[in-house]
Amino acid sequence: MSQTITITRPDDWHLHLRDDDMLRAVLPETARHFGRAIIMPNLVPPVVTANDATAYRSRVMAALPERSQFQPLMTLYLTDHTDAADVTAAHADGLITAVKLYPAGATTNSASGVTDIKHVMPVLEKMAEIGCPLCIHGEVTGADIDIFDREAVFIDTVLDPLRHTLPELKIISEHITTKNGVDYVMSADRNLAATITTHHLIINRNHLFVGGIKPHYFCLPIAKREHHRLALRRAATSGDARFFLGTDSAPHTDPNKESACGCAGVFSATNTMSCLAHVFEEDDALDQLERFASLNGPAYYGLATNHDTLTLVKSSTPVDYPVSIETNAGNVTVFNPGFPLYWRVV
Ligand code: NCD
Ligand code: ZN
Repeated sequence: MSQTITITRPDDWHLHLRDDDMLRAVLPETARHFGRAIIMPNLVPPVVTANDATAYRSRVMAALPERSQFQPLMTLYLTDHTDAADVTAAHADGLITAVKLYPAGATTNSASGVTDIKHVMPVLEKMAEIGCPLCIHGEVTGADIDIFDREAVFIDTVLDPLRHTLPELKIISEHITTKNGVDYVMSADRNLAATITTHHLIINRNHLFVGGIKPHYFCLPIAKREHHRLALRRAATSGDARFFLGTDSAPHTDPNKESACGCAGVFSATNTMSCLAHVFEEDDALDQLERFASLNGPAYYGLATNHDTLTLVKSSTPVDYPVSIETNAGNVTVFNPGFPLYWRVV
């Protein structure tokens, strides 16, 4: 007998859609399964002002497949020069759901990010006052800090002091990759939650290097040691309301990944729900998949859950999903979990 599970339609609380040809190619992959997604603003140039977000939202809506009910939840890219009044108006209008903080230079297209948190304190104070959440890419950027330590150092030197200065600011520590991140979120009783990606539940840093370098597993924050992955698995499958799905599905074309200086980003929109069902079943926690993918995120953001559902069926033969998505910009390789997937979205 085939096994079936039906959950409230999931949302993706951290997604890169890009623009133009890439947007048109990757958006259906997310819209097929997800009700909503927090849309990352790290375009070139970034989505900095309310006007930028209005224009980008229109381009996303225009790229949606016909009759799709998918809703993009827009964000603004915080810079040293962000205008608090512009953020306030965009939030009051319902145009944006959150603001995104990239430390300058931390990741793909983050050159215009924040150079010092001190520069953005007036905007953050205003956001705390109006209840606008802050999504944080939590890594320090100093060349003297080892890439595997950047998240832990960020928690101690930036995030913790920020939360003490502004306890009313609602923060999402995005794509956490360490036990330090899990423990820190668990130590907070309010105004702190974290997203976890699909791939960080599945790969550790060995997957990047053992048997040859695997550019399609390179993302930021970079995958860490196995004990960190296990801590992420425990957090995600625990049902704890402070942890929810943000795939960080981040498409780059194959030539841009398979290069002497390859881009960071894993594209997992296509098979994320199949991967998650596999992971949750493996950890005997299929009953917690709905909390992680569909309930905890909206609850934290103060939004209603989706009204419809998504059903997954476990088949006896592996699911046939595409290994790559063709785009006019080039092919984009889909995340390979390294094992066959049996759970299929119907
Ligand atoms: C993201 C991208 O490609 O835009 N890359 C990644 O490795 N996650 C940026 C980000 O979220 O850090
Ligand atoms: Zn991202």
